[in-house]
Amino acid sequence: MRIFSGIQPTGQKHLGNLIGAIDQYVAGQDRGEGLYCIVDLHATTVAYDPTELRARTYDTAAILLAAGLDPDRCVFFRQGDVMEHTELCWLLCSVTSWGDLNRMHQFKEKAGNERELVSAGLFFYPVLQAADVLAYRANEVPVGDDQRQHIELMRDIAERFNSRFGDTLVVPEHRIPEVGARIMDLQNPTMKMSTSSEGEQGRIHVLDDPAVILKKFRSAVTDSGSEVRRGEGKEGIANLIDILAAVKGTTPDAIEAEFADSRYGDFKTAVAEAVIDRLAPLQARYTELRADEDALEAAFKKGAEKAQVIASATLADVREAMGVGPRS
Ligand code: AMP
Ligand code: TRP
Repeated sequence: MRIFSGIQPTGQKHLGNLIGAIDQYVAGQDRGEGLYCIVDLHATTVAYDPTELRARTYDTAAILLAAGLDPDRCVFFRQGDVMEHTELCWLLCSVTSWGDLNRMHQFKEKAGNERELVSAGLFFYPVLQAADVLAYRANEVPVGDDQRQHIELMRDIAERFNSRFGDTLVVPEHRIPEVGARIMDLQNPTMKMSTSSEGEQGRIHVLDDPAVILKKFRSAVTDSGSEVRRGEGKEGIANLIDILAAVKGTTPDAIEAEFADSRYGDFKTAVAEAVIDRLAPLQARYTELRADEDALEAAFKKGAEKAQVIASATLADVREAMGVGPRS
């Protein structure tokens, strides 16, 4: 079982990223061969500052390692270090239709009314994402719910490649967590918690101070009822139930039973405390890891060497199948 996922180096990672994705990466190390990549090339598809990009890449690396990724038990690397991703992206363009790319929700959202002005990179973003996974012939891709369409597209691309050029690529499966695939904004519980949403009040960053976390949970938007249970019009409470279930490794039903007699205020405090306890060791490790950029670079280098062995073998097969370059 080979598992692959990528994560953007932009912005601060939030609780949705941790529960929806990072926790699954960590668990994947025990289930199979995990490959985890910080996608710096994807980050160049929107306006960005080069110096910032490197700094945010280190931040993200330190968060992932602090959360439990172990470079000895997985292949942990930076996308830009392995050239095969960009080459495969181009080669896969031949079996990707313009129409499919033009229908991608994330492209439509990010491009907004500026479709003609955004970078072509933003348009090709999903092809590079497909290349990330297909280069390793990964079987499974752990991501949050928002990546569904991108995974469907990469499956289509792999199938189209195989039927056009012969069986070469593995068609990967989507793996989304049972609880927490879609953590919602605390201030606006009908919207997902997102790096790009305005205002930070509804978003818990994994590096937030305990006092800030408590304040954000205490002011989370709920409803006019009083029962701690899921239901129509209770998106805010349902979200807090999901968060607590994910953080404690239990089910939403169990949380509802445990808090059947609690008031909203006490429940919010309990969620905040559980999140603070969960994040404390991660934050402590983060500070240590982030301070040593040379060590982070060394980890990237080691990971890229391992990744490249796998990716270059796939690329040789892809080139051969497509008739590109000399006969092998
Ligand atoms: P990004 O930071 O956009 O690269 O996202 C990293 C991972 O976090 C992806 O697998 C997303 O699907 C996942 N993710 C992002 N937002 C949420 C959310 N609100 N709930 C659950 N998972 C999320
Ligand atoms: N697009 C993904 C996101 O925004 C990040 C990503 C890039 C990715 N390449 C990937 C996820 C490959 C899974 C597999 O979260």
